[in-house]
Amino acid sequence: MTALGKLFRTTAFKLTLVYLIVFALFAAFLLGYFALNTRRLVTEQITRTVDAEISGLSEQYNQGGIRRLAFIIDARSRRPGSSLYLFTTFSGDRLAGNVGWVADGVIERVGWTETGYRRPDDPEGTEHDALVRVFQLPGGFRLLVGRDLEERERIYDVVIAAAWWSIALVIVLGFTGGFFVARRVLARVDAMTDTSRTIMAGNLSGRLPVAGTEDELDRLAVNLNAMLERIEALMKSFKEVSDNIAHDLKTPLTRLRNSSEEALRTAKSEADYRAALQETIDESEELIRTFNALLLIARAESGQSSSYMTEFDASETAQGVAELYEPLAEEKGLALKVESAGPVPVRGNRELVTQALANLVDNAIKYAGDGRSQTDAAAEIVISVQSQNGRAVLAVSDRGPGIPEADRSRVVERFVRLEKSRSQPGSGLGLSLVSAVARLHGGEFRLEDNAPGLRALLLLPRNGPQLPMPAE
Ligand SMILES: Nc1ncnc2c1ncn2[C@@H]1O[C@H](COP(=O)(O)OP(=O)(O)OP(=O)(O)O)[C@@H](O)[C@H]1O
Ligand SMILES: [Mg+2]
Repeated sequence: MTALGKLFRTTAFKLTLVYLIVFALFAAFLLGYFALNTRRLVTEQITRTVDAEISGLSEQYNQGGIRRLAFIIDARSRRPGSSLYLFTTFSGDRLAGNVGWVADGVIERVGWTETGYRRPDDPEGTEHDALVRVFQLPGGFRLLVGRDLEERERIYDVVIAAAWWSIALVIVLGFTGGFFVARRVLARVDAMTDTSRTIMAGNLSGRLPVAGTEDELDRLAVNLNAMLERIEALMKSFKEVSDNIAHDLKTPLTRLRNSSEEALRTAKSEADYRAALQETIDESEELIRTFNALLLIARAESGQSSSYMTEFDASETAQGVAELYEPLAEEKGLALKVESAGPVPVRGNRELVTQALANLVDNAIKYAGDGRSQTDAAAEIVISVQSQNGRAVLAVSDRGPGIPEADRSRVVERFVRLEKSRSQPGSGLGLSLVSAVARLHGGEFRLEDNAPGLRALLLLPRNGPQLPMPAE
């Protein structure tokens, strides 16, 4: 398609064309109406003048007869800019007046006529148009009074010329305007198309150009860019997950295979086999747990679980988690306590929030419980649930070693475990899930210093996640 053809096909150009036609029609209608009405008004004016003259003249006739009438007509005819007069006998002979010739039969017809006439001083010359009225007097005398129509036609011509000019102007301006608007729009759309091509070619970091005019194209570009941003983030996390799986599941799977192989090769008694099988089962369970955690995180991150949002009491959830972990805490010599002032209703995915809270409590028990006894005042884990500024704040505080400030952003990433925790079982996915759950609910996950220990905060909007607003 040629550049010009492309231009003519743009919506902007077509719209301009439609407006152009509408405006041209409107201008034509308006000026046509104006022209016709001016003509009508002038005609009315002439009719009134002529009628007034006739009634004046007939009065003169009544008072002074033919002679007086002829005299007055003669006098009036000489005045500059006067009306047209023709006074004849019954046989049509001219007695007085400033009309030399009228079209045939006009003088015989009583009433209004539009006719051609000539001046007496120019009987063979140019014919002029006039609107005349013929009046019959007693004795067969005829009186013609009229006005030249030249003025009326001049006005009419001027208005018609104005109409043509304005229509021509509308068309020229409309065309050039449409041309420039369309070219501008086309240039921007072309730029967008080019960028989207490079994006489609695999460069996901490309963004559509935003002109900063805040018009509809800009809004579209901003929204598409937000979409690209999201796609890019999803692709990145997708890649991360697959990399992580490949890396972190390969080791335990290899270990599983090696130990089974080893057992087959070396085991002598049934007891040996039993021991080997038990080990395999334990390893598999660990693998299944990791898989489940990964799947849960993936589900939370893709936003799929947002369709299972319900209203539930966060205090009750905390209570449930505490009951579940009570025995484990006791075993480690820790006291588990729930602090809440009353029900804290939240809209969200109950299962995921419960799992997130469980992960936090699990960490607290796992990492803060080394070598303490319940009598130790510092061996307390507190789950607190509060409502604050329309958000539910679920906090798990322990008195353990805590996480150094520098590592706090790192530990929420998948499979990240701090060096000193390697002795404990785990895959480094617990906090990733908590952070994914926070994101899913439009909330926030924070790690703070409990001096000493760790304070993990999960903040959830109580009315559920708010949809991200498309850029205005
Ligand atoms: N309460 C805590 N006190 C001290 N360190 C902690 C605490 N919670 C987490 N950590 C540190 O953060 C790391 C990441 O925690 P996360 O829960 O993500 O993984 P994990 O507990 O190692 O394994 P998983 O939870 O998957 O079984 C832990 O390995 C640990 O080093
Ligand atoms: Mg954990």
